[in-house]
Amino acid sequence: MAHTSLQQAWLNLAPGALEPMIADHLVIPEMLKLFGFTFQRGEIVKEYPTGLGAQKVDIAARKNNGIDNFSHSLKAPSLIVELKRRSKNISPNTAEYLSLVRQLKGYLDPEAINCSQAKWGIITNADRIQLFRRHGKVIYPFTNNIELNAGNIDEKIYLLKDYIENNCNSLVIALYNNKGGVGKTTTTINLASILSLPSAKGGFGKKVLVVDFDPNQKDLTEILGIKPGKVKLLDFLKDSNSKDYAIDDLISPYPIKLKDGKWYRFFDVIPADEGFLEVPPSSLPSILYKGSLGKILSRVKNKYDYILIDAPPGSNYFTKEAIIASDVVLMPSKHNGLASLNNAATAMKDILPQLGQERRVYSPELADPTPLPIFFNGEQMTPAQEKQAREEINKIIDNVMQSDKIDLTPFFFPKKTEMVKNEEIFNLPNIAHISSAHFSRRPAALTNQLAFVAYKRFVEEYFI
Ligand SMILES: Nc1ncnc2c1ncn2[C@@H]1O[C@H](COP(=O)(O)OP(=O)(O)OP(=O)(O)O)[C@@H](O)[C@H]1O
Ligand SMILES: [Mg+2]
Repeated sequence: MAHTSLQQAWLNLAPGALEPMIADHLVIPEMLKLFGFTFQRGEIVKEYPTGLGAQKVDIAARKNNGIDNFSHSLKAPSLIVELKRRSKNISPNTAEYLSLVRQLKGYLDPEAINCSQAKWGIITNADRIQLFRRHGKVIYPFTNNIELNAGNIDEKIYLLKDYIENNCNSLVIALYNNKGGVGKTTTTINLASILSLPSAKGGFGKKVLVVDFDPNQKDLTEILGIKPGKVKLLDFLKDSNSKDYAIDDLISPYPIKLKDGKWYRFFDVIPADEGFLEVPPSSLPSILYKGSLGKILSRVKNKYDYILIDAPPGSNYFTKEAIIASDVVLMPSKHNGLASLNNAATAMKDILPQLGQERRVYSPELADPTPLPIFFNGEQMTPAQEKQAREEINKIIDNVMQSDKIDLTPFFFPKKTEMVKNEEIFNLPNIAHISSAHFSRRPAALTNQLAFVAYKRFVEEYFI
């Protein structure tokens, strides 16, 4: 059987091919061509300066629009590719792989100003390839670290093409902790407020959708006084392929009057559906497809910059569906609650990989949902308590390293490196107004200066 040109290029590559060979014979003429970039038209630049010191990424690409030619203007690539020679082992968890990922993340960092528009990053040594996505400050693996061979290279590269071309605006964030009362709902409401607050008022003017996926408590829906949409979420989920339902019928606006006396349509909400309470929890998985929430949300992913899902505590249908639907998972925690820290560790090493496996049944090669670094919520800590919390976390990290060979350091101490022993964890302080704001149906971040500052810092630390 004749080979496709992609297969042939891969087969022709020498076992010891160096980076320029891989670039010139496989990545540029075959893979990037399939993704729609043309070298001859100046849409691909080699050794592109990232803007971070003298660093250069191996390949950068952007489609020309109108007369703006990427190789002339050298501005705003949409995709960057960092290569390793073929003899380097970049299988998951090898030292070479981890350092390559660090390198790519550095190039996608907002400080690398020439790449600040790049949404996608690829690492490859011709035998393995992995796609990363950047959304604001968040950089996360979009696919698994995929092994390539002559038999699968067409299928896998077309899959990457599909993911890149169906690129959507939104970042889907599940708020999750098995432990109750840690601040999931409060964080969801206030994050949505600051993200959607117009920039003229000090916010970020983003389009935000919030999903109240906790029908038992329906806290978010009640706190904000959201009216039900025309269609119920359960009915929609039961029939997620149906064209009979319009997604807009599921969504209610959250309008709020600000100090200037004007009404603003802030974020949108899919309210909690009490209909779920009439179905025995054990039968939910049998009447609803796994991944149906994600499927519904994919219909509106281009309409919003952020989609936040408020999940209930525990481990149940709702938490699992929320995680399966999400790109990243945000876990509020408590410094004195060893349970919330242990839960976070279990989520990172067991639950997210297991649910990642489940969603790959319908979206092949997608990476596991990525845990964002934990944060402490509503805490008043003395230095001694902070020290104790750090010690407990270090014990958890050591135990997981010994038993599972997984390094959880970046998820607990994102600023810690081999050189800098910074064990700082973001702390969203305890602010009395935050809990009392619930009664006024107005998010604290919009009515109280302390809360506004705290949540704005939070958004800047994690997202923008
Ligand atoms: N930063 C904060 N400062 C003061 N109070 C807070 C803060 N964050 C949350 N709270 C209060 O803590 C309580 C629990 O918060 P919340 O309901 O958001 O937690 P949850 O994780 O959603 O709970 P559940 O698991 O029951 O869904 C609420 O009364 C809330 O007002
Ligand atoms: Mg809640």
